Amino acid sequence: MGLGAVSTTTIAGVAAIRKGLALPIGSLTQMGTIRLGRRTDARSPKIKDFVPVAGLPDIVFGGWDIFEEDCYAAARTAGVLEPALLDQVRGEMEAIKPMPAVFDQRYVKRLNGPNVKKGRNKKDLAEQLIADIRGFKEKHGCSRLVMVWCGSTEVFMKEGPVHQSLAALEKGLEESDDAIPSSMVYAYAALKEGIPFANAAPNLTADVPAMLELAARTKAPVAGNDMKTGQTLIKTVIAPGLKARLLGVRGWYSTNILGNRDGEVLDDPESFKTKEESKKSALDYIFQPHLYPELYKDLSHVVRINYYPPRGDNKEGWDNIDLVGWLGYPMQLKINFLCRDSILAAPIVLDSALFLDLAKRAGMFGIQEWLSFYFKAPMHAKEVYPEHDLFIQLMKLKNTLRYMKGEELITHLGLEYYD
Ligand SMILES: NC(=O)c1ccc[n+]([C@@H]2O[C@H](COP(=O)([O-])OP(=O)(O)OC[C@H]3O[C@@H](n4cnc5c(N)ncnc54)[C@H](O)[C@@H]3O)[C@@H](O)[C@H]2O)c1
Repeated sequence: MGLGAVSTTTIAGVAAIRKGLALPIGSLTQMGTIRLGRRTDARSPKIKDFVPVAGLPDIVFGGWDIFEEDCYAAARTAGVLEPALLDQVRGEMEAIKPMPAVFDQRYVKRLNGPNVKKGRNKKDLAEQLIADIRGFKEKHGCSRLVMVWCGSTEVFMKEGPVHQSLAALEKGLEESDDAIPSSMVYAYAALKEGIPFANAAPNLTADVPAMLELAARTKAPVAGNDMKTGQTLIKTVIAPGLKARLLGVRGWYSTNILGNRDGEVLDDPESFKTKEESKKSALDYIFQPHLYPELYKDLSHVVRINYYPPRGDNKEGWDNIDLVGWLGYPMQLKINFLCRDSILAAPIVLDSALFLDLAKRAGMFGIQEWLSFYFKAPMHAKEVYPEHDLFIQLMKLKNTLRYMKGEELITHLGLEYYD
């Protein structure tokens, strides 16, 4: 969903990896291993050999966008990958032409494009998407599908009455309720078809009771929200470390400069608000200020994103952390991450699609908390807080794979080695 920088980098990447032109660096499903049994057993197969995730040669990509450019042209516009690499996968990229989108500029103010569906109401638009999905499936002879929203960040929205039950949502679709943004129309179409759905962006999409009711009914797994790529990835690596050593934090100032289309969309305050909420939640949960008020209670956490065209997709993140140590003595930590947004995002799109497909085959549905590892604002059950610590998330993910295969879970207790 959305053939922008992230999608085209994922698709071109998979094509290049299939041809042996590059390595799937950053992908747990492709390069990760999993330890089984005791440390002395020396059993650490690759994850892709341990669980039957779909193989890269078996994947077919399709998508929707408001622009008519094919996937090759869109990748050139995004400017993430070198033309020399793109040219080696040009044929298969050009064959992917975006289907007309469900789009309404009210939800993404900085964009407008010609490749947009018309319909009587949002229900009609959802039905058109379902027809696209079925047509795609048949045309390519696919046995299973997954949908990942890689569209632009929509304006900030709060859960309202129309999101509370499937009946209310379906009525809202018929009445084209304003509280149903375009992304929800896609999520509805996917879940209605029992297709696993992931939200790579922070917008309010599948994470509402109505969608979860639908997912439970059609047995569709869901994951999200907002991929954990640059600054937040580093934040959820560093913060658990500071917390582990009980170092206090008075302030954490994060700023980013980026110049891609995502940056342009986020330049609109309403889209930025959605991103800001998503980016800000991690520290609160990791530091647990209610348990450690002396260390983290009044932490000032500021997040800024600045649209700066010369940088394109090569984002620069700056973090300044004001720490406090023994007896209250202040210290500072500065992090300057010169990252590449879509290069960090592509393996997440691939892994979450493959794991969601696996989950569906394993009979799992609804929120897949074990995929929190990939997301900035992980979906979670109402009664628990989300887990943001990257290392706990990874443990949870791997233990879920062990659980699926009937292997012993690893607790890291390790007393057995000293009996
Ligand atoms: N790159 C990262 O590191 C990263 C990390 C986390 C989240 N995200 C999110 O992923 C999303 C995609 O990022 P990107 O860099 O590829 O952005 P992008 O602007 O390059 O691509 C988004 C694409 O979605 C299309 N689009 C928007 N609304 C649509 C609709 N209703 N229907 C069909 N197409 C639609 C746009 O035309 C555009 O081509 C953004 O929401 C971004 O915030 C990206």
